[in-house]
Amino acid sequence: MRKILHIFLLLLLVVGYQSTYATDRDVEVKRAILLVSFGTSYPEARVAFDNIEESVKSEFPGVEIRWAFTSKMIRKILKRRGEDINSPAEALAEMGEDGFTHVAVQSLHIIPGQEYDDLKHTVEAFNGMPKGIQVSKLGKPLLFTDSDSRALASFINSEYSSLVKKRSSVIFMGHGTVHASNIYYPGFQYYLNQKSDGYFIGTVEGFPTLDNIVPGLEANGVKRVTLIPFMSVAGDHAKNDMAGEGSDSWRSILEARGFKVDIVLKGLAESDDVVRVWIDHLKEIYSEL
Ligand code: CO
Repeated sequence: MRKILHIFLLLLLVVGYQSTYATDRDVEVKRAILLVSFGTSYPEARVAFDNIEESVKSEFPGVEIRWAFTSKMIRKILKRRGEDINSPAEALAEMGEDGFTHVAVQSLHIIPGQEYDDLKHTVEAFNGMPKGIQVSKLGKPLLFTDSDSRALASFINSEYSSLVKKRSSVIFMGHGTVHASNIYYPGFQYYLNQKSDGYFIGTVEGFPTLDNIVPGLEANGVKRVTLIPFMSVAGDHAKNDMAGEGSDSWRSILEARGFKVDIVLKGLAESDDVVRVWIDHLKEIYSEL
């Protein structure tokens, strides 16, 4: 009797599974793209995001594109100004509710750091959501593979090589992190140095710092320095920590040490060639949906 009951239960399970499978298959496949950035509270820095969106639109005509910011602090600031921007989890839940079944999530981060890891967890959690998203995949950040770094070093060099001369150097300001992937900053400088010794990368919150860079500049007799953000947008860090008038900005520190300082307030995402790298990563996952 017990055996019959077991078989009966097993049969129920199989039938149940098949009917779920059948209804899932009946759901119309609806694809969408979710672009995810740390975010910025500077309206003028949004040109970088507009530029990305334009490129994604022309690469994926007719596909719904939505945005999410990972920074809770920035979403709070924007909310106070009356602008509601979703977190990645909110955006994915909403997309599921709106009937999207396959979502390509593109990280607009620079390195695969903490922000990227967190996003990966979120995206994985939304895979196979009952009555929601069936498949969601996450595209790699700007720098991931060797070929990403090579491509970016070439674009940067073609854009800024005229600023690197015998007594003139370029210092990029990266964010930096306590995450193991901080190694991408000194690592990427190596790629840049294949083009010229005049490129340096420093970070606000990681290694190397500006202090690590200055002795090398002085030893090489550098007199003039151009500061450029190594971040997707020229936001708070670029405007204040890099180019600000305060005594602890990179501009002020370098000027106090006798350097002539020029500023380029342009986020990486404002360059179409750089955006191309993110779009290639997006195309990769979109084709796998
Ligand atoms: Co920061």
